[in-house]
Amino acid sequence: MANRGSFSSKLGFILAAAGSAVGLGNIWKFPFEVGLGGGAAFVMMYLFFCFILCFPVMVTEVAIGRKTQKNVVGAFNALGYNKWNIIGKLGLLAGVLILSFYNVIAGWAFGYFFEMAQGNFAVADNFGAFTSEIFKVGLYAIIFMAFTAFFVAKGVSGGIEKLAKILMPSLIVMILLLVGYSLTLPNSIEGVKFYLVPNLDAINISTIGGALRQAFFSLSLGMGALITYGSYLSKNDNIVSSSAFITLADVGIAFIAGLMIFPLVAYNNGGDMSLVSSNQAGPALIFITLPGVFETLGGVGAFVGGFFFLLLSFAALTSTVSLLEVPVSYVVDELGYGRKKAVILVAVVIFLIGIPSLLANGYSAFFSTAFTLPGSSDFLSAVALAWLTYCCCSVDS
Ligand code: PFF
Repeated sequence: MANRGSFSSKLGFILAAAGSAVGLGNIWKFPFEVGLGGGAAFVMMYLFFCFILCFPVMVTEVAIGRKTQKNVVGAFNALGYNKWNIIGKLGLLAGVLILSFYNVIAGWAFGYFFEMAQGNFAVADNFGAFTSEIFKVGLYAIIFMAFTAFFVAKGVSGGIEKLAKILMPSLIVMILLLVGYSLTLPNSIEGVKFYLVPNLDAINISTIGGALRQAFFSLSLGMGALITYGSYLSKNDNIVSSSAFITLADVGIAFIAGLMIFPLVAYNNGGDMSLVSSNQAGPALIFITLPGVFETLGGVGAFVGGFFFLLLSFAALTSTVSLLEVPVSYVVDELGYGRKKAVILVAVVIFLIGIPSLLANGYSAFFSTAFTLPGSSDFLSAVALAWLTYCCCSVDS
């Protein structure tokens, strides 16, 4: 079997796994899911799912990886549950599909770093034009995938640990400063109320399903990322306390990201929070609302804006690295490829799979609408809940 490498210490694992969990899901996706899900009621359900359901799942994933020292599919075989390796294969597929679109959004964040650093705040007024400039955003996506491939090729202890060590504290400090600033702005209190005072009428099947999906996505679960990272962990390391720390760090950063963005939305919209629940406002929140605020900072705006999107890009990078690591370790272990060759092959294939996502944000009318089926989110939620109930029943029996 290929040499699997390992983390240099338990702290290295914690940093890399927390780096995987903390990413666009916390700062970009969480606020817009909260917006679409009606605010505080969604937040309550999200917290419930993270601590009651996802934390034990995280411990289990890491334990499977640590015990078997295998990739996501090999791990189930090694445990003697060959039939169940379908779960590993589904995880592998999910991770590949997630990385294919995640890389596109990460490319936008990376592109915004250059735009903000040059003081080009107008990009936010024309966000649709930015995402449909296909060659420019395509290039950013290629560069981002190349960085990801570079770090994965170096192996888990060869860079990603160190990156996370500097990044995580800087990101937290930056968001906290922005929270402080946003709370001083007129009407910000309306945003805080939307975020923290629950309206129980907003709870329905799609908000429950949305909170469940967001909890799994944010904690990097169900995709084999933590099975794979766990496989690089020494058998003596305590995984319960590490998982608790990773869960707290991830949920904490998502929570403060919400506390940063909703007061800003309230400020931008004169206290009117109705816009935030509309589909259009959703995915674009941090790409439209935040730059508007950086602009109000005057001379330091370009610096603060550039630095924010640079940190966001790094946060995305520690997540894309973990997403790419899953199929790469599978290809190395199970198909016998060398690590470098596997990295290049998998990165290119995933980039190609992501091309429809690149085209789906304004450039191509077909791809922009083809995969949005009316009611699909309710359907997915129902499937997720049914699957969860089934799993809970099978564990009991
Ligand atoms: N948890 C990451 C985020 O919130 O941005 C996304 C992610 C990374 C999902 C790794 C799944 C995964 F395996």
